Amino acid sequence: MRRKLAAGNWKMNGSSEALAELSELAGHHPAPSVDILICPPAPLIHRAAQAISGSSVAIGGQDCHAQSAGAHTGDVSAAMLKDAGATAVIVGHSERRVGHDERNEDVRAKARAAIENGLIAIICLGESLAQREAANTLDIIGGQLSGSVPDLVTGENLVIAYEPIWAIGTGKVPTLAQIGEVHDFIRARLERRFGAGVGRSVRLLYGGSVKPDNASEIFAVPNVDGALVGGASLKAADFSPIISALEAA
Ligand code: PGA
Repeated sequence: MRRKLAAGNWKMNGSSEALAELSELAGHHPAPSVDILICPPAPLIHRAAQAISGSSVAIGGQDCHAQSAGAHTGDVSAAMLKDAGATAVIVGHSERRVGHDERNEDVRAKARAAIENGLIAIICLGESLAQREAANTLDIIGGQLSGSVPDLVTGENLVIAYEPIWAIGTGKVPTLAQIGEVHDFIRARLERRFGAGVGRSVRLLYGGSVKPDNASEIFAVPNVDGALVGGASLKAADFSPIISALEAA
């Protein structure tokens, strides 16, 4: 059985005061039946990990460099994230793919670095609105999946997040049938490439405008093992009901 995962991506939001949200969140869920992960901005990772150490909330990064060290001004390596207390890292978010020109091979190299350094790699995939409207979604997802996922994955060190670009931060959500179609497709592709054992144990998250009021119906879709949540992860009061919905699913 796959243990479900509620992951929050704070993006470029949050300062020292936001650490109180983490303690509040951990207080709401002392012994959850799902995994809880928050990915704060890099400068907060170490303090966040210390603030909630020993609690039910794990801390992750939002990106990492493919190299472990060197002349890469402004970048953070997977080893540094691990050293700061992170247990996972998001790679290939559309805001990186689009805003920083990251290609599938870049995402793959970052995911490999993450896994080699003992982090869970959360690899994001998703189509644009134009691609969705041109009925190209599965082609795009299939290409991103084969291009972005390295060979060394297991059910424990890989998570895939399906995040349609047009659903991120917009309040628009695909139909449940559309979510199910993509998640079933990703599952089948993973099983074909890695075998049933690994393919069936990788967790598949949905992301894009997940809120307390739509979480339950999304979590009822087969092959949805949790969510990657942006805006609604910033406040414990919003993220906590999403976690509870996942526990009840
Ligand atoms: P959102 O972001 O929940 O604010 O739509 C999701 C994401 O980008 O991971």
